[in-house]
Amino acid sequence: MKIENSNNPLILVVFGATGDLYQNKLSVSLFNLFTQNLLPKDFRVIGFARRLFSDLEFQNLTRESILNKNKTCDKQILENFLTHVKYVQGDLTDLQSFQNLSLELGKKDRENKICSNKLFYLAVPPNLYEIIFKNISEAGLAIPCARDLELSAFATGSGVTKWTRILVEKPFGKDMDDAKKLDQMLGRLFDEMQIFRIDHYLAKKNMRNLMDFSFSNGISKSLWNNQNIEYVKIALYEDDTLKDRANFYDGVGALRDVGQNHVLQMLALVAMEAPDKKLHRDIHEARNVVFQKTSLISEKIVHGQYEGYLQEKNVEKGSKTETFFRVILGIDNSRWQGVPFILESGKALDNKEVFVEVCFKNTKGCFKFLISSHNNALDDAYEKVFYDCILGDQTIFVSTGEVMAQWKIVTDIIQKWQSIPLVIYKKGSKAEEIK
Ligand code: BG6
Repeated sequence: MKIENSNNPLILVVFGATGDLYQNKLSVSLFNLFTQNLLPKDFRVIGFARRLFSDLEFQNLTRESILNKNKTCDKQILENFLTHVKYVQGDLTDLQSFQNLSLELGKKDRENKICSNKLFYLAVPPNLYEIIFKNISEAGLAIPCARDLELSAFATGSGVTKWTRILVEKPFGKDMDDAKKLDQMLGRLFDEMQIFRIDHYLAKKNMRNLMDFSFSNGISKSLWNNQNIEYVKIALYEDDTLKDRANFYDGVGALRDVGQNHVLQMLALVAMEAPDKKLHRDIHEARNVVFQKTSLISEKIVHGQYEGYLQEKNVEKGSKTETFFRVILGIDNSRWQGVPFILESGKALDNKEVFVEVCFKNTKGCFKFLISSHNNALDDAYEKVFYDCILGDQTIFVSTGEVMAQWKIVTDIIQKWQSIPLVIYKKGSKAEEIK
């Protein structure tokens, strides 16, 4: 089934909708889907946040966010899109706010005399997940329909089951224990089929190409192993500083922010074996098999912070949060044993570039897959995230097994670097200068 042909109304609730993620990515991706007729005919975006906003004020924020990214968009279509955008003011930690939201969603379903599909997007820092899950559950939002509509909605004979899904941003938890706790809680409220753990890198076109390449073993299967490959370098370089994201980033740091997820997923896509079947579960499992065998293989660990980080707005005094890391991992299986995987990422560097470089032995040179750079910054990742979630395709999302395995790798690294001093580097440094 294609979404655009779907007559099921859809309500998308964005928790934390006045924040950076909605303004920079989500609003424009939703608008782009709308422009291409890729959303259900009857859809509503509900922004939910603490700020005292009217619908109109939230529409203004959404308009501004979209125009910031795309000045030349069709203004008529934009205004049309905004008629689907509403706001519910509420406190994410307060059950009453969720009960108000539940009433609001039920109102729409009663007007339509059909229960809509519901999608909840957690665009908030991970320390709020637990209370949000609890409030969703206690306010009766984990089920798709207003209770009094449920029976009549299923009696329409359409044969289409309505759904509630939840989109959770990374990092999922702040460490392994926290992730386990959240996972158990989520598991009690939702079926795994309803949970979409986002790693927007998996939705990037070039990441999907990288996976196809690994599956086809484009160069030649006989070359893609430790007999021929000297090392693999995986880099996520950013020239931007923290900007005003300290509330999220400080205390989280580069390794949890992008290492535990985006960078490790790049490693998995390069190293995984092609599963016999290409169902989402098989693909998740093939990535997970790689994570299960991945660990630190070198004491050479660098974690750094750019000069001036401590002066950024809302950063805690004396914060030791790292904005750069370099670690060397290995994969303990017959294909990759002995091949170092150098993982590196940082903010405030001299360049924005994300790539995987596979370097061959005997100076046969390196093969570079560019995932993104300044020159191809335009990407459709969040469009794909929304589109696939609405379709119910979990391939580009992350399974609970993967999340736990990723945390295990990262937790080991964090333990090791406790005894290693944080390096302070100048803004605009090259990654290789940070030692
Ligand atoms: C996000 C991180 O997940 O990815 C950010 O929270 C980072 O800190 C961003 O800047 C990088 O994503 P992209 O798509 O801009 O390369």
